[in-house]
Amino acid sequence: MKNKIREIFDSIDNFKAGSVEELEDFRIKYLSKKGLIPGLFGEFKNVAPEARKEVGMALNELKNKAQEKLNLVQQELSGKSDSGQKLDEDFSKPVDFSDLGSRHPLTIVRRQILDIFSRIGFTVSEGPEIEDDWHNFEALNFIEEHPARDMQDTFFIDDKDEKIVLRTHTSSVQVRVMQNQQPPIRTVSPGRVFRNEAISARAHCIFHQIEGLYVDQNVSFADLKQTLYYFAKELFGEETKMRLRPSYFPFTEPSAEVDISCNICGGKGCNICKYSGWVEILGCGMVDPQVLENCNIDSNKYTGYAFGMGIERITMLKYQVNDLRLFFENDQRFLRQFQAAM
Ligand code: PHE
Repeated sequence: MKNKIREIFDSIDNFKAGSVEELEDFRIKYLSKKGLIPGLFGEFKNVAPEARKEVGMALNELKNKAQEKLNLVQQELSGKSDSGQKLDEDFSKPVDFSDLGSRHPLTIVRRQILDIFSRIGFTVSEGPEIEDDWHNFEALNFIEEHPARDMQDTFFIDDKDEKIVLRTHTSSVQVRVMQNQQPPIRTVSPGRVFRNEAISARAHCIFHQIEGLYVDQNVSFADLKQTLYYFAKELFGEETKMRLRPSYFPFTEPSAEVDISCNICGGKGCNICKYSGWVEILGCGMVDPQVLENCNIDSNKYTGYAFGMGIERITMLKYQVNDLRLFFENDQRFLRQFQAAM
């Protein structure tokens, strides 16, 4: 009897099933009413009383073993049929990346810009999106009724005592930094800004800017130009050319607008640059001495430059996006295209 049990135990141990039918044969052979194991239990009454304890334990063990094997093989077989193929079939198949997320293109470009300026010693500063009139306009030389206020269609928030606006540019952050810190100041300020404009492919009522400010002794226009040239080459490539055109902002004097050679056609002329070979990327200038004084910085001792750019505009140029509204729609088909960019 003991030998028989041993034999059956071993054959159960070695059993492998390739199909549900084979497993069913296994069950019938060992565990069904007329199977081998119940048969052995039937013979148990013939075992000598002194051997019963040992044989009984061995029989129970055998029955458990058979049941376990049945469950195990059943599980393996159902795993195969779930996926419709054997589990160990093809390890060279590419992984399915469909659930991998990606950064928003504006986030990617904001990080690139901040990274470039942090490499040359600029800190990052932020300020509130809801601003008072003084920080957004007054301190920056937009006095009451100044026609330049029309350049920025403003959202106003009603408040009895104070004029409150949604900031129209991140220049308001510079004012706050200069109020709280004495030179040397070298900082870039990223953030959302708001203007009451009709939404189109080229304009939106919400967009993002990065403003730069450098105030110290002997800061010159040449410093501004070289810094921006370095920035343009880092962001758009070594072969990028840059030019400055005179412009006007109330808080800088002199002021300029900066163009780079069109990064699409390399300056030859295409529909992105309207066949001029140049595209505008930012506004800049030397901080007006009156603005320094407004923020309690001695304008006889210090000079400074400032520049400001729209992140949407830079992203559109860099990645050839032709409609600004795409940035706000969060269409997966658009966003997924930036998976490879960092
Ligand atoms: N604040 C300006 C704008 O929003 C940009 C700018 C910033 C121009 C700094 C000059 C210097 O249009």
